Amino acid sequence: MYEKMKAKLERIVPDVELRYKAEIAVEIEALKKARNAVILGHNYMEPALFYSIPDFTGDSLDLSRKAAQTDKDIIVFCGVRFMAETAKILNPTKMVLLPSDRAGCSLASSITAEDVRALKRRFPGVPVVSYVNTYADVKAESDICCTSSNAIAVVESLKSDTVIFLPDEYLARNVARETGKHIIFPTLQPGVEDTILDYQMIGWHGRCEVHEKFTVQDIQAVRAQFPDVVVLAHPECSPDVVEAADFSGSTNAMIRYVRESRAARYLVLTECAMGDNIAAANPDKEMLRLCMVRCPHMNTITLEETRDALKFNRYVIELDEGIRQRAYRAVQRMIEIG
Ligand code: 13P
Ligand code: SF4
Repeated sequence: MYEKMKAKLERIVPDVELRYKAEIAVEIEALKKARNAVILGHNYMEPALFYSIPDFTGDSLDLSRKAAQTDKDIIVFCGVRFMAETAKILNPTKMVLLPSDRAGCSLASSITAEDVRALKRRFPGVPVVSYVNTYADVKAESDICCTSSNAIAVVESLKSDTVIFLPDEYLARNVARETGKHIIFPTLQPGVEDTILDYQMIGWHGRCEVHEKFTVQDIQAVRAQFPDVVVLAHPECSPDVVEAADFSGSTNAMIRYVRESRAARYLVLTECAMGDNIAAANPDKEMLRLCMVRCPHMNTITLEETRDALKFNRYVIELDEGIRQRAYRAVQRMIEIG
């Protein structure tokens, strides 16, 4: 295990840390086998975890598919709570474990099921698209889900003049621009009417606390120093940042872009651990970092917590069956679109 990790990470993780982490990874491998478990690892996992124990790594759409397909008894989700809930929604007979009880998400906690019901009362008959970065009760109120890799395809699949798109303000604005839709952010206070009437997309003021930190000035400063840099931005970044970047896409799409393009230097505007993971996979390319930006939720998932998840069955994801079934319709409809 140490040799396997070292082959990828010797330039990224100090040797003493690698040796220590390799020992935990060996323990996890044994537990995984003994308990007939599968481990799914999101692209934001820290390098030592990302390159050791997951059976599958990927973006949220990819990992949902893997969760739906597995025949193992236990799914350990090295990601955040909404991802583990999506696994449970799709594969309810399995035990789903999330290694930390602090792995939330600022987008998921920005909206409640009652908020969605209020929007539906305010805009009756308008289909609701929810980003997968929401909890199961919000998905249950939605017609269809989307991820950053299929948001445009999902909105276009509805063939509707108007859609409600929740809860990420920036993703909504980026999708509106790509699909040529005019977006509003309504006031839901009783008695307050919105003044703009020619809307085609109705958004919500959720933000990713990681991606909202990137600015156009960050890009300009890096370009001033390294004029040949290729800038990639996740679509949870502001529309100005996405416009100033050379490419925008899901975490998988950004990984693929760096792998397949020939530039010598990249700046990836997303959670910093992913920059390390891309650097490890592309030793011939230089990754520039703005490393003050880490997701405090993804960062609670460690090798130690993952070992303990398998040892002590924690933290088990439980969902109300009625909510799960309604959420399933929205997630499954998205998966069918691709
Ligand atoms: P992806 O679907 O692109 O993996 O993104 C998930 C996420 O939480 C980004 O912040
Ligand atoms: Fe949520 Fe942002 Fe963290 Fe992704 S990076 S899990 S959207 S807080």
